Amino acid sequence: MPELAFLNGNIMPIEEARVPVEDRGYQFGDAVYEYVAGYKGRLFALEQHLDRLEHSLRALDFPIVSRDQVRRAVIETFKQSGIERAGVYLQISRGVAPRNHAFPAHSQPQIVVTVRHAHETPPEHLQKGIRVVTVTDIRWGRCDIKTVQLLANVLAKQKALESGVEDAIFISNEGVVREGTASNLFIRCADHLLTHPATPQILAGITRSVLIEICGEQGIQVHQQFFDRNTLLSADEVFLTGTSTEVLPVIAIDGRKIADGQPGPTTLNLRRELEKRANQNDV
Ligand SMILES: Cc1ncc(COP(=O)(O)O)c(C=O)c1O
Repeated sequence: MPELAFLNGNIMPIEEARVPVEDRGYQFGDAVYEYVAGYKGRLFALEQHLDRLEHSLRALDFPIVSRDQVRRAVIETFKQSGIERAGVYLQISRGVAPRNHAFPAHSQPQIVVTVRHAHETPPEHLQKGIRVVTVTDIRWGRCDIKTVQLLANVLAKQKALESGVEDAIFISNEGVVREGTASNLFIRCADHLLTHPATPQILAGITRSVLIEICGEQGIQVHQQFFDRNTLLSADEVFLTGTSTEVLPVIAIDGRKIADGQPGPTTLNLRRELEKRANQNDV
């Protein structure tokens, strides 16, 4: 099955797609993105991703981009690829213009879609859980906008790998536990879950909101509130959520075991429920 790219109206093999060097995404990080998962030839939660894309575009005062046009580009590239279990990446930059910080007077947003085989989580990470480190959150104050400016996330992930663990969790200067490098974070304390509220300091994940919905149906209370590192370390369960992460158990943080150091029952149950939803969806 070919891995494909859509570039401003044309679909081609991914290695043939080229963007101009004066694309503002390349020079200023002036671009937003979404990452949508394909399961069994269908895209999971596409409309929620398009809603968040619109939020990002509006927040950055982008010129109007047609939602229908973006939806068609995503679906058409995904279908043409024939890849059933895919990772569909969508990026929209403000356009191509001579380098100047100010918005160009006339620029056409550049739409890029790539479709690749999804990165499956290694089975041992699912079975045994992952270990993480905490890092200071040095990101800007609008993490609710899904921009391509991911250098703090890149550095945090790299630090985790160089420390011999799988991922990192951002903690603010004031000690508030935020989220993972490409995922949201939930903890279980006795009979309820805690997760950071959807403020500008985190990205409100689509998986996070699906999980909150599932918890509602299952009678599991989720409190969206701030909590600190001590609360995190003393939790009964910790897990990450995201489009590529799905639901991933965290069993050690900064070298300290969480509970008995095994993936917990609520985490595993929610992972199964999310899997069910992902495999019976719409587009
Ligand atoms: C910083 C950050 N938080 C959370 C998420 C999870 O969002 P979603 O569930 O929509 O994939 C992502 C996904 O890329 C992310 O980069």
